[in-house]
Amino acid sequence: MTEVSGKTVLVTGGASGIGLGIARTFAAAGAKVAIADIDAARAQEAARELGVVGVALDVGDHAAWPGAIATVEKALGPIDILVNSAGIGSGNRPIVEMEDGWMRRLFEINLFGSITGMKLLGPAMAARGAGHIVNVASMAAVSHVTNQSDYAGAKAALAMMSECFMHEMRGTGVEITVVCPGRVATRLRESTELVMGARRKPSTAVAPKVLLSGDQVGVMVLEAVRANRLWCFTHHENRERVERRWRAMSDAFDAIPPV
Ligand SMILES: NC(=O)c1ccc[n+]([C@@H]2O[C@H](COP(=O)([O-])OP(=O)(O)OC[C@H]3O[C@@H](n4cnc5c(N)ncnc54)[C@H](O)[C@@H]3O)[C@@H](O)[C@H]2O)c1
Repeated sequence: MTEVSGKTVLVTGGASGIGLGIARTFAAAGAKVAIADIDAARAQEAARELGVVGVALDVGDHAAWPGAIATVEKALGPIDILVNSAGIGSGNRPIVEMEDGWMRRLFEINLFGSITGMKLLGPAMAARGAGHIVNVASMAAVSHVTNQSDYAGAKAALAMMSECFMHEMRGTGVEITVVCPGRVATRLRESTELVMGARRKPSTAVAPKVLLSGDQVGVMVLEAVRANRLWCFTHHENRERVERRWRAMSDAFDAIPPV
């Protein structure tokens, strides 16, 4: 079990939504929390509200990470838990209509933004013999969402890289959790338009039966971290989507001709 009380936790995208919910939950559990966000004003406001440290960081800007880490570690000590929650939403169009510039920027933030954190903090955690990385992916990482191939592609890659990381870190004391939320009531639409400087087409994704809050997801993430669980799902209604995909793969194995 990873105990979080007294641990230093850095939450990217912590100024809003799921990241804010995770920051609030971990702070209430006794962790020393820092939030990093591209929206510097909102990060300071949220940090003041929670009584935690706030720093400005664009996770897609590789060169900006070391400075943000140094600021957090100077204030709170070595980072024990990294939560990669910063992310933006899909451009909501078919893959053949997606602009390369949009897709590259989305991958920079939603995929490479997390990889940079894993690469910069994972080895230091391993050297100390303990640590935990939480990557906020999505249900889109494990089941398709029509017209969101940019988002789903980046999240699927993040989930698989998290699994690989778990095996590579085995025996070091460093654990990983990949969170696959269903729909959560957040500012994702507004944040995406702010970061990308462009209005998006409305989502065509099916509305969920249950709309959770960021705080509710925060509680689920804390439990998954304490249990050292790789997968953290949030909506029972989504189990069928994963099982349907798995059955299609399993059926394809049945179709292999005898050799
Ligand atoms: N809301 C949902 O239904 C849902 C479902 C599944 C997964 N997610 C994922 O949850 C994570 C959090 O999103 P949310 O729904 O809480 O949205 P949100 O917009 O409320 O919070 C995201 C935060 O990330 C910040 N951010 C965006 N780009 C950044 C960057 N380049 N560098 C640093 N900070 C950046 C935003 O300013 C914002 O404060 C995202 O990774 C998102 O893909 C959300």
